[in-house]
Amino acid sequence: MSYHAEYTQSIEQPEVFWAEKAAELPWFKAPQQILSKDENGIWRWFADGEMNTAYMALDYHVEQGRGDQLAVIFDSPVTDTRRKMTYLELRDEVALFAGVLKAQGVGKGDRVVIYMPMIPEALVAMLAVARLGAIHSVVFGGFAPHELAVRIEDAEPKVVVSASCGVEVKKVIEYKPMLDEALRLSAHKPSACIVLQRPQAEAALIAGQDLDWQEAMRNAEPADCVAVKGTDPLYVLYTSGTTGKPKGVQRDNGGHAVALKYSMKAIYNMNPGEVFWAASDVGWVVGHSYIVYAPLLAGCTTLVYEGKPVRTPDAGAFWRVCADYKVKALFAAPTAFRAIKKEDPEALEFAKYDTSALETIFMAGERLDPPTYDWTVEKTGKPVVDHWWQTETGWAICGNLMGIDPKTPKPGSATLPMPGYNVQILDAEGNPLPAGEQGSIAIKLPLPPSCLATVWGDFERFRTGYLSDFPGYYTSGDGGYKDEDGYVFIMGRTDDVINVAGHRLSTGEMEEIVAAHSAVAECAVIGVNDPLKGQAPIGLVLLKDGVNIEEETLEKELVAMVRKEIGPIACFNRAIVVQRLPKTRSGKILRKLLRQIADGKEYSVPSTIDDPASLAEIEGIMDQHGLVSKA
Ligand code: COA
Ligand code: AMP
Repeated sequence: MSYHAEYTQSIEQPEVFWAEKAAELPWFKAPQQILSKDENGIWRWFADGEMNTAYMALDYHVEQGRGDQLAVIFDSPVTDTRRKMTYLELRDEVALFAGVLKAQGVGKGDRVVIYMPMIPEALVAMLAVARLGAIHSVVFGGFAPHELAVRIEDAEPKVVVSASCGVEVKKVIEYKPMLDEALRLSAHKPSACIVLQRPQAEAALIAGQDLDWQEAMRNAEPADCVAVKGTDPLYVLYTSGTTGKPKGVQRDNGGHAVALKYSMKAIYNMNPGEVFWAASDVGWVVGHSYIVYAPLLAGCTTLVYEGKPVRTPDAGAFWRVCADYKVKALFAAPTAFRAIKKEDPEALEFAKYDTSALETIFMAGERLDPPTYDWTVEKTGKPVVDHWWQTETGWAICGNLMGIDPKTPKPGSATLPMPGYNVQILDAEGNPLPAGEQGSIAIKLPLPPSCLATVWGDFERFRTGYLSDFPGYYTSGDGGYKDEDGYVFIMGRTDDVINVAGHRLSTGEMEEIVAAHSAVAECAVIGVNDPLKGQAPIGLVLLKDGVNIEEETLEKELVAMVRKEIGPIACFNRAIVVQRLPKTRSGKILRKLLRQIADGKEYSVPSTIDDPASLAEIEGIMDQHGLVSKA
């Protein structure tokens, strides 16, 4: 099969195409309605199919006689632990934990928030929720209590599952005090918290609120899989939008299972029994899709890694893991490879390990810059595949079908639209642009299976945020262009979302926090190029009249505020005082222009600017603070 044939059929006969893919999964009742519209007028996949995602991912493989095959390998250099679980062991642990949740009253449609580090129990908790037909919402461990509280309030979980701590490089992060603080901040209170005690830091449990994971498991009865409809939600995963309120991306069970299973062979060229490693975190969409669900749906072995690409203990960490477990496909963010390159530019560590099983390296989460692409290809000798996707889609929008028809990559491009995605580059009026011209990247409806059909509890936000810019299209929020061969180049966000070390963050949210400081009259937070993390946020701050505060003190206080509200992963480390911000005559801050200045790019002064002199002035101040890139 050629890419062309595969892609064309997916666009011209989407129902035929996806019905075939759906037939490869074990449904309780196979879907007859392949594509239909819901009460909001949104296209939905497999509405009348009946299924259970955890059954498809675990029980089915056990029933097929593959119970002894490895499902999970856990490798934790930060705690010096390794553990392996077969499909049978994982299924039994998931069924038992589902029993724990059931005993707490969790049933179909109930929400469970999971706030856990990268340990196998995080997967167990997610799959147990899925087994009950309930809905999980995993919150990344690097988020501060405030962020956790916002998500708890929105998802209104019956139960929260957590662990006593996570382990970062040489430091133990206690999760339980953060959970307690989040519950104090949240108006919604769950009826129980189940806490896994880890030896690195035992948590004090609160009587009447907290249950000990191990003890609850000892007293539990295993619970069976509960059948759900294809369109029933499997999970809600919050992602940053342009405001302080994160968006709950709601994922259906049916389309998710079908698209993910398909992607494992088509994109990643993975077969049952092979080892797949997504070096991400279960708190992100990459972790949901490619640490948990896709590898298990495809009968592969998934690797759960609690460590970093560097410093745990060195820049050979990735290659050591690939060699130890014969990893066939490695998937990580470009930042990880930039970190390895920085510490081991000649890739001396790579040469120490037998990575012959590793066939392909996949990258996503942020733009893969050509120097990082070139370095990885040159030093590893492996094909490197850049692919573009979002929390909203759950799998790649553009990529390279390595299991069907691999195309020659072009550095800087995420290659071609994946089957099911009718990707178009549009101008401001919604007209398709010719090859080479940059515009908004939009996807013509219907979206393929797995993509969101609403924002949790807020359909209007889904409609206005994604569907109203260009009627008949989903707006991705990214800008870019196609070349004459149809290759897609993703050039960056067109909104105020930034990407720091592959983590999606909202500068709008940071602005709300900075603006809350008593000395601040107005501010702009922009993402500027960062050699390691891709982008880093900086704050430009205007003081209130008559306020007298040392710039250094103010910066420290603002950094602490953002860290406290969002968490350390925001990497908000710089804030400078400016006299005024460049604005349009209608008062809109010219953030794009500020970014161009910081990145040392040529810029043209827009005709709508209120005071052109403000630009030279701010450039001078940013330069004095070393915030203008000289590249
Ligand atoms: N729980 C608690 N804290 C966390 C955390 C977690 N799960 N993950 C990160 N943090 C903290 C770190 O400890 C650090 O805190 P500090 O400021 O007190 O030192 C801060 O958040 C920033 O972390 P990080 O972005 O990981 O920076 P780093 O300098 O420690 O490491 C890299 C740099 C490049 C090694 C790291 O960013 C990395 O591995 N990037 C890949 C990211 C990735 O896989 N993204 C997934 C998207 S697909
Ligand atoms: P997230 O929802 O956290 O996965 O972030 C999605 C955003 O990350 C996208 O909208 C892009 O801005 C960016 N992104 C993800 N993958 C890529 C890629 N391969 N190239 C460029 N940008 C990417």
